[in-house]
Amino acid sequence: MNLSLNALLEMTAQDGEGWGLAHVRRVMELAKWIGVDVPHDSYALTLAVVLHDWGAFPRYRVPGVDHALRSRQIAEADILPRMKLTPEMCRNILEAIEKHDYRDTRPVISNEALLLREADMLDLTGVVGMVREFAWGPNNLDICQQRIRARLEGVKGRFTLPRAREIAQVRLERMEQCLNWLDEEGFGCL
Ligand SMILES: [Fe+2]
Ligand SMILES: [Fe+2]
Repeated sequence: MNLSLNALLEMTAQDGEGWGLAHVRRVMELAKWIGVDVPHDSYALTLAVVLHDWGAFPRYRVPGVDHALRSRQIAEADILPRMKLTPEMCRNILEAIEKHDYRDTRPVISNEALLLREADMLDLTGVVGMVREFAWGPNNLDICQQRIRARLEGVKGRFTLPRAREIAQVRLERMEQCLNWLDEEGFGCL
């Protein structure tokens, strides 16, 4: 049976716990915005965005297998063969999914991969990036804020696209500001 984009969005809503679909929708908006001047296939990019974190969903995750690689395996084996796509689209979607994580420093070949990586990084920054970390838990503010600081250092200087850099600058400043407020209000007891 052929799969539609809508079917994939429904599956993302079903299996993506509370966060999957909302994250996908934000990353889609970010990718659209930063990709205005970057030639790319928007359908291929959309599919890559939808599928990029499936390997982190409880239904699909495999302990010990990196979630980006796991997402690629699912897309390659179960999803893309059920869609009408050219070999080039498939190649670019799979590359984008596999290399999306900001900790992956391998250079990307396709613009779809570049757009997904930078849009996904933007969703880790700013106020959304911070509250996502607190939502991940555990119920320990100190652990969450340490992870936020690590992410902040991890993504700094990693943005290459002009529009991504513009958004990142604002969001990183907001993060620093929020972390300063957290320190100030926390009396050193987080
Ligand atoms: Fe991811
Ligand atoms: Fe993601």
